[in-house]
Amino acid sequence: MIQQAAEHLSDDPTVLVCAGSGLSVESGVPTFRGEDGMFRDDDIARLTRVTTFETDRRDMMKWYQDRREQLRELEPNAGHLALIELARDTGDYVFATQNVDHLLEAASSELGYRPPIHHLHGSLLEVRCHHCGFSFEDLRLDLGELPTCEQCGGPLRPGVVWFGEALPTIPLRRSSEAAERCDVCIVVGTSGLVQPAASLPVTAKSSGATLIEINPNSSALSDACDILIRDKAGTALPALLEEVKHRR
Ligand code: APR
Repeated sequence: MIQQAAEHLSDDPTVLVCAGSGLSVESGVPTFRGEDGMFRDDDIARLTRVTTFETDRRDMMKWYQDRREQLRELEPNAGHLALIELARDTGDYVFATQNVDHLLEAASSELGYRPPIHHLHGSLLEVRCHHCGFSFEDLRLDLGELPTCEQCGGPLRPGVVWFGEALPTIPLRRSSEAAERCDVCIVVGTSGLVQPAASLPVTAKSSGATLIEINPNSSALSDACDILIRDKAGTALPALLEEVKHRR
């Protein structure tokens, strides 16, 4: 399967990478679903809904601040680095990630190459006012203290998308445009259950792209994929990078 996938990636293709939490698992970030997923605890699922910000703000902000503080310890894994190296050396890559960590950006800094990375569900590094939308990056700010906006006095919250909220328009539009024009769509580490992110690979497929799934398990997108690599991102992506470089 790696050889088959490499065939489609070796002639300077236009590629959209659709990434989910499985890409960051080998950096120590838990997934949401599945036997080890965060959502096995119903309370955690509750903390990702916009209504909880009104009903249980302190618990919610404490949980998000804990996740923000964990970001400091995270390192990009071999999967992140292989993806950025593929983007730097072998084609025209755009990334649409559902992840709110910064590990693709950290891999880009390490390799000195920054492809377009669209955060469909926002970023834990960002802080945003829930009322006026004023936003900035500051990992040191303790959201557990319930800080308020210096512009309007509204409550500050992490710059992520909660269930019940719309996705940011520009990342979604740019990702949809990339889906419509790509030759190949790599779907890595996502269950394919959350819309509209899960529609991007389907859009790519209907525009004639070859779909490659990298996931140890099947997903809601597996049936739409042409090539299924049933392996971990941290193993499959470096192998894919080596095979593509060998063919070029
Ligand atoms: N390599 C690749 N894939 C993996 C790995 C790994 N090492 N480990 C697990 N996976 C796969 C799982 O098999 C699963 O299909 O990653 C996927 C994780 O699925 P989810 O937990 O549903 O994560 P994701 O698809 O990113 O969720 C989408 O849901 O809760 C919302 O906003 C949240 O962005 C998130 C969205």
